[in-house]
Amino acid sequence: MNKRRIGVLTSGGDASGMNAAIRTIVRTAIHYGMEPYGIFRGYHGLVHNEIEPLNSRSVSGIIQRGGTILKSARSEEFMTPEGRKKAVENLKKHGIDALVVIGGDGSFRGGLELQKLGCDVIGVPATIDNDIACTDYSIGFDTAVNTVTDAINKIRDTASSHDRVYVVEVMGRHSGYIALYSGLASGADAILVPEVPFNLDKVCNQIIDANKKGKTHSIIVAAEGVGVDPENNTKIESHSMYIGNYIQQKTGYETRITILGHIQRGGAPTVRDRCLASRLAYHAVELIYQGESGKMIGEVDKVIKSWDLEYALAQKKQFNLEYYHLSNILSSI
Ligand code: F6P
Repeated sequence: MNKRRIGVLTSGGDASGMNAAIRTIVRTAIHYGMEPYGIFRGYHGLVHNEIEPLNSRSVSGIIQRGGTILKSARSEEFMTPEGRKKAVENLKKHGIDALVVIGGDGSFRGGLELQKLGCDVIGVPATIDNDIACTDYSIGFDTAVNTVTDAINKIRDTASSHDRVYVVEVMGRHSGYIALYSGLASGADAILVPEVPFNLDKVCNQIIDANKKGKTHSIIVAAEGVGVDPENNTKIESHSMYIGNYIQQKTGYETRITILGHIQRGGAPTVRDRCLASRLAYHAVELIYQGESGKMIGEVDKVIKSWDLEYALAQKKQFNLEYYHLSNILSSI
C-alpha cells in the first residue's frame, strides 16, 4: 500500500513559531509512516503547484527561526472556484489527500473550502493577533507580546527622562490582545483596544491626575484596531497620531507617538511559542493519522483539544476583561 501523503502550508501574516510547527509536522508525519510535502507561499503556491517533498533534514535548524521557511502570501486566485479547482488538482497530482493549514481565521476559511472539495484539513492556529476562538493562545502571540514589552521598557526610559507622554501603537487589526498583555506587563497607564469602548477625555484626566500625584511620564498602549473616534464614530486613518495630538492638546504635556509595526511579527520565537507550536502541530498530525478531518487544534486551560473547524470559525474569541480591569486598577492608584 502507498504511504499516505500529507501537505503543510503557512498562510496569512507570519508568526514566530511557525517554523517550529512545520518541523513538528514533518517529523511527526515521518514518525507515523506518512510522507510530508511542503506547499510554498500558502494558497498561492497550492494554486501554482509550488509543492515539494520534505524530509527530516529539510526542517533542521529552524526551530529557533522566526518567519516561515514555507513562506506566506495572499492569493486572490484561491478565492475563486477556478483557483480552488486548480489547488485540488495540484494536490491530487502529488497524491496528497490531507493538509495541515498553519495560520489564522482567513487561512482556516480557505481550509474549509478545500475540505468541502474532499481534502482532509486540520488547522493549527498561528497569528500574533491571538484572535482565534477555541484556543487560549495562538502561535506567535507570546513572542510578539515579549517584543512589544521589551520595546515599551525602552520607551519608558526616554519617556521618564523627558517627562513625556507616549502613545505606543501595537498590531491587532481587530484584536486588542497584544495591547492588553503588553500593556499589563509593561505597566501602561491606559490600554486602548477595539473590544472595549473608551473615552479619550477620561484618559487625559487620568494622565493629569497621575501627574498631580507625582508621575511625570505616561505610557498609553493603543491597538491598531482602535480606528474609530468614540466621539463621532468616524474612522480615523492614523488613529495613534490622532490620539497623541488629542492628549497633547488636552493635557498640555509633551506627547510622542511610536508605531511599532512589523517588528512584532519577527524574531526568534519564545520558549512558550516553540512548545505551543510543537504540541499543536504534533496533535494535528495525530488527528490526520486517526483519519480525522475538518478540525482545528487548540490549547484550552493547558489541555490540547480539537474542535470542529466550522464551529470554531463561528465563535468569537472572548476578550480577557480580567486583565483589562486589573491593568486599570494598577494604573489608577
Ligand atoms: O498578522 C496579523 C497582523 O499582524 C495584523 O495585526 C496586522 O493588521 C496585519 O497583520 C498586517 O499585515 P500585512 O502588513 O502583512 O498586511
